[in-house]
Amino acid sequence: MASTLNVEQITRELLVSNEQLKQIQQLLEQEMDAGLGVATNEKADIKMYPTFVRDVPNGTEKGKFLALDLGGTNFRVLLIELNGSQFEMDNEIYAIPQEIMLGTGQQLFDHIAECLAHFMERRDVKQYCLPLGFTFSFPCRQEGLTKAKLVRWTKGFRCIGVEGADVVELLREAIKRRRDIDIDVMAVLNDTTGTLMSCAHKKRDCAIGLIIGTGSNACYMETLDRIETCSHLTNRPLPGQCEDTDPDQMIINTEWGAFGDNGVLNFIRTKWDHELDEFSINRGNQIFEKMISGMYMGEIVRRILVDLTRRGYLFKGRCSNKMIVPYKFGTNYVSLVESDRNGATIQTKWVLNEVFGINEVSDEDVRNVQLICQRVSTRAAYLVSTAVATLLNRMQREHTTVGVDGSVYRHHPHFHNIMVRKIRELTDPKYSFDLMLSEDGSGRGAALVAAVAHRQKLQKLKEAQLAKQLANL
Ligand code: GLC
Repeated sequence: MASTLNVEQITRELLVSNEQLKQIQQLLEQEMDAGLGVATNEKADIKMYPTFVRDVPNGTEKGKFLALDLGGTNFRVLLIELNGSQFEMDNEIYAIPQEIMLGTGQQLFDHIAECLAHFMERRDVKQYCLPLGFTFSFPCRQEGLTKAKLVRWTKGFRCIGVEGADVVELLREAIKRRRDIDIDVMAVLNDTTGTLMSCAHKKRDCAIGLIIGTGSNACYMETLDRIETCSHLTNRPLPGQCEDTDPDQMIINTEWGAFGDNGVLNFIRTKWDHELDEFSINRGNQIFEKMISGMYMGEIVRRILVDLTRRGYLFKGRCSNKMIVPYKFGTNYVSLVESDRNGATIQTKWVLNEVFGINEVSDEDVRNVQLICQRVSTRAAYLVSTAVATLLNRMQREHTTVGVDGSVYRHHPHFHNIMVRKIRELTDPKYSFDLMLSEDGSGRGAALVAAVAHRQKLQKLKEAQLAKQLANL
């Protein structure tokens, strides 16, 4: 039977004070510096990967591009036509079956190539070799715009033989194996970079790309002199090299989802967070992400509900069969419960019936379920806000537009407002910001990065031709 404690008291563990959030800011700042340092990067949890994207679009980008988007729950192929600030987009979603997500790398890339061929056939572009941008939203160590080695899988993927390999190479090989299509991979990028680029296309002061979806991560524009791991890139030409005319900056993919993997966040983690991690396919990894993103938020709620029911605090102590199924309670249901406001109960009751088959609930049960969802999602919003504020303080720009995308941000009824309030509280008042919903960063952003790279490639070809002509004169 339940003791004298109640659900409100037991779940206070989920509350995080501003004092704790400020402590997290300091830790994050240290980890980011460590990630950027040559000597410290190896041990750092936040890897701060250079993306080799040095500038945002200038509005003159033109042409037809293909884009691939792998990294969320679905895989997409897109055909995008850019014309200055205008763009047209056509896309198709393909499922990635669970057995492919957990199969071999070759199976995964063959599947991707097959979807691409199917799409090109249907759009009647199979005979062209179009430039392509590949949004691959996992931690990658990049050595250039078209070379990205997967460091490790996150978010439910675990295909064998891909970690350590160059994903562009794997894609090219899979396409070669088919022999029916040809493509020109211009760039590989993270979804955060795509989001930043796609928002910057509209607002030039966009300097952060943020995802709160299946996973959570952010990228931002960093000055080159603070990126020790890129100290070989500078505007000053090195002997024997031609001048690098790109701006002295680069987008850094923070991969902040791994923050806390070394235990620094344990002071705010609850036993439910520990349990979730314990039973996940990537134990000990992505600790920050596991407290924030859509893949896990519903599962934290479910674990709390099961625990409190078993201890007699909810549903008369009876767990339904469906309640004990891991990942049964998707984060979309947290958003639905959160949309019951001011004492409303209709959504919560519907969700409990729909997901867990529980149709007899007391008013107190409903209030408690709502409280749990609210605490878990507010904590997530606070943590992500803390990280955004850390970036804003670090960049010291007068005003920054933050491009945001992801299912949690899009569908949770209060996430945006909670974030605006919390980021303001944690950011130096000298720096202002706006949160801007990105319009399909993973697709459009990929086309934009590919477009910039394509333009540069053509430019270089032209210059080479000109030099040849001059030499022949
Ligand atoms: C995970 C991935 C990261 C991605 C994020 C959002 O954290 O590791 O690369 O940006 O999810 O999709």
